[in-house]
Amino acid sequence: MAKKLKIGIIGSGGIAQSCHMKGYESIPDLCEMVAVCDMNPEIAKQAADKFGISQTYTDHREMLADPEIDAVSVATPNKYHLQPTVDALNAGKHVICEKPLGMNAEECRIMCRTAKETGKILQVGLQSRFSGPLRFMKEYVDAGKMGHVYYARAQALRRRGVPAWGVFIEKDKQGGGPLIDIGVHVLDLTLFLMGYPKPVSASGKTWDTLGKTPDLFNYWGQYDRSKFTVEDFAVGMIKFEDGSVVVLESSFMGNLSGDPFQTQLFGTKAGAVVKPYGGDESVQIFTEVDQQLFDMKPANVPNVESAHVAEIQAFVDAILNDKPSPVPGENGLILNAIFDALYKSSETGHEELVDVTF
Ligand SMILES: NC(=O)c1ccc[n+]([C@@H]2O[C@H](COP(=O)([O-])OP(=O)(O)OC[C@H]3O[C@@H](n4cnc5c(N)ncnc54)[C@H](O)[C@@H]3O)[C@@H](O)[C@H]2O)c1
Repeated sequence: MAKKLKIGIIGSGGIAQSCHMKGYESIPDLCEMVAVCDMNPEIAKQAADKFGISQTYTDHREMLADPEIDAVSVATPNKYHLQPTVDALNAGKHVICEKPLGMNAEECRIMCRTAKETGKILQVGLQSRFSGPLRFMKEYVDAGKMGHVYYARAQALRRRGVPAWGVFIEKDKQGGGPLIDIGVHVLDLTLFLMGYPKPVSASGKTWDTLGKTPDLFNYWGQYDRSKFTVEDFAVGMIKFEDGSVVVLESSFMGNLSGDPFQTQLFGTKAGAVVKPYGGDESVQIFTEVDQQLFDMKPANVPNVESAHVAEIQAFVDAILNDKPSPVPGENGLILNAIFDALYKSSETGHEELVDVTF
């Protein structure tokens, strides 16, 4: 039997335990987790015990000195993605790093360059691509059935969904609010479906009034308003080199019905609404045949039990079978570059250029 990949985890909190480690655990013939690192030793131990791992660390550099480790998950808060990722790549390990790849595009550039220089895989933790609806839709779009997708409207909107744990409301540790935290998912899947056109410019606006207002209801409990330094709502319009445009809306708080998490594509042959976790209504297609209008719901959307587990399986498969990164670092750079331009545009009041060079 071929050698099993040896995996290390850096940052063993929420997403590491609920998603990455479950993913590795699901393919015991292909890989085994051998070490866990968390700056909080109790969290490292708790995660290690839960998944039967013997080695724990509080400093990722010590863990990376183990030559046995082939690949790592970086699942630390956004501010701590850069250093462990670069250190791991330089230590010869493949990396899957949680989204957003960086706090800003400059950090992503460093990570992408390092991956290129070391020849190691850098994957971004954007699991929605692996969901059944996205798999269906990608095939549909790539087969040309939508024609040219010239416009999309991407929404990751929560009515009252400020994360009350971790550092999600602190700009200096996150890089931003809902735009960079959940907007990143819908923007990624929209661009993925559109073939990742090159962004040129972006214009945006953010607000923070609701997030800072004391005593508003929040599904996830109370949080310290004085720490709320991110936006609660963001909107942006992004223009691409091929003439297409995406409008992105993202919120932790807003007065709206429900919590839409979807993208709507407008193509020259058909339109579609895609909800990665939308159950029965996950894909709707709108088209015209012989001057008759049809609203269609496909019956063969693949059933993917966990997009998170599927993303980890894709990471391991890419390493073992010498495939390209399933979610390349360059895609993460494009997303962060767009967010940089949108945040800047909100401050300047002008449309800003998106710089994706690296
Ligand atoms: N893909 C998704 O859907 C999804 C969902 C949630 C979170 N995330 C991302 O995952 C990352 C972590 O989020 P979380 O919700 O798991 O947070 P968390 O706070 O639950 O876990 C982060 C862990 O990292 C540890 N840590 C911090 N700095 C460290 C360092 N330098 N070295 C080692 N350990 C360190 C913390 O002690 C903590 O245990 C964030 O980037 C977030 O955006 C992604």
